Amino acid sequence: MKEKVEQLKTEATAALAAAKDAAELEALEIKYLGRKGEMAALMQGMAGLSSSERPAMGKLANEVKVAVERALSERKKEIEAEKLGAIATSEWIDLTAPGARPPKGHVHLVTDAVSAITEIFSRLGFTRVRYPEVEWDWYAFEALNMPKDHPARDEWETFFMDAPEDPKLGKMVLTPHTSSGQVREMKKGKLPIRMINISKTYRRQSDVTHVPMFHQFEGLMIDKGVAVTHLKGVLDHFAREFFGPERKTRLRPFHFRFTEPSFEIDISCDLCGGTGLIGGTKCRVCKEGWLELGGAGMVHPNVLKAGGVDPEKWSGFAFGWGVERTMMMREGVKIDDIRHLYRNDFRFLSQF
Ligand code: DAH
Repeated sequence: MKEKVEQLKTEATAALAAAKDAAELEALEIKYLGRKGEMAALMQGMAGLSSSERPAMGKLANEVKVAVERALSERKKEIEAEKLGAIATSEWIDLTAPGARPPKGHVHLVTDAVSAITEIFSRLGFTRVRYPEVEWDWYAFEALNMPKDHPARDEWETFFMDAPEDPKLGKMVLTPHTSSGQVREMKKGKLPIRMINISKTYRRQSDVTHVPMFHQFEGLMIDKGVAVTHLKGVLDHFAREFFGPERKTRLRPFHFRFTEPSFEIDISCDLCGGTGLIGGTKCRVCKEGWLELGGAGMVHPNVLKAGGVDPEKWSGFAFGWGVERTMMMREGVKIDDIRHLYRNDFRFLSQF
């Protein structure tokens, strides 16, 4: 029995030390130390020994078990170290090579458009301002010649805040258009005015051409003798600078409560080349070759009065366009769904 135990020790430790890899080591572990393995069989065999032989044999068997377990754990460590060594030698590092440059991002398309718009108007003497994203009903509607309950307000699909009403300024809303900045600017009390208000605006709408949060830029010029020709000149200048000389704009007579006369400004669609068709089917974005960018007009006397400006002495024009739409109509941008802009999908954003 004693020789058998010694032999098992020699055989097992040698086999474990020679194991080539983790899989072989595991098989040997099962063979020697497993529940039905050779060590277990040996322990069972001890039951047949006389009580005088048993303690000495038990001690020896225990020593063998410890020795086999140690051989196993040592080889396990060696195999792991060999693996790491292989990685270290296969990955040769040239410490003198130039470092990997971190990927360079760029500003979001909308931020980029806001900068471009600001710059174009600043060259005409317009100063960039920003007004609150949360606005009072009075600035958003009433001061713009839209009295309470006027049906024209429906156009603005407004978000109302769950906040107490102000006795003079009325309900609190999420700014539905940058036009509220017109009266805020006049209320500063400095004339003449050349303002470009670029801010976030909110409306309850979401489809291929609308997102609930978007940006508008609102121009306001008030001076002595300002006429429609000045408005037309400023808009044409912007269109040429921003879109390029081939893009066309058109003015359509329209009605807004806060301007008189009023117009809608359209620009030829870049996605379909102004034809309204892509491969025989209607262009998803414009449907008829033109895309409406926003409104414009001569500031209504009631609005001037609301801002504390005397309409007998001063006149002005105003315009308000969507930043996202304007940007989407830029040469080569070709985005067929405005909602892509705010999905934060890097695959989309990194294309630009
Ligand atoms: N605020 C209008 C809108 O959101 C656009 C607009 C129309 C602005 C006419 C103007 C304007 O300044 O004169 O639809």
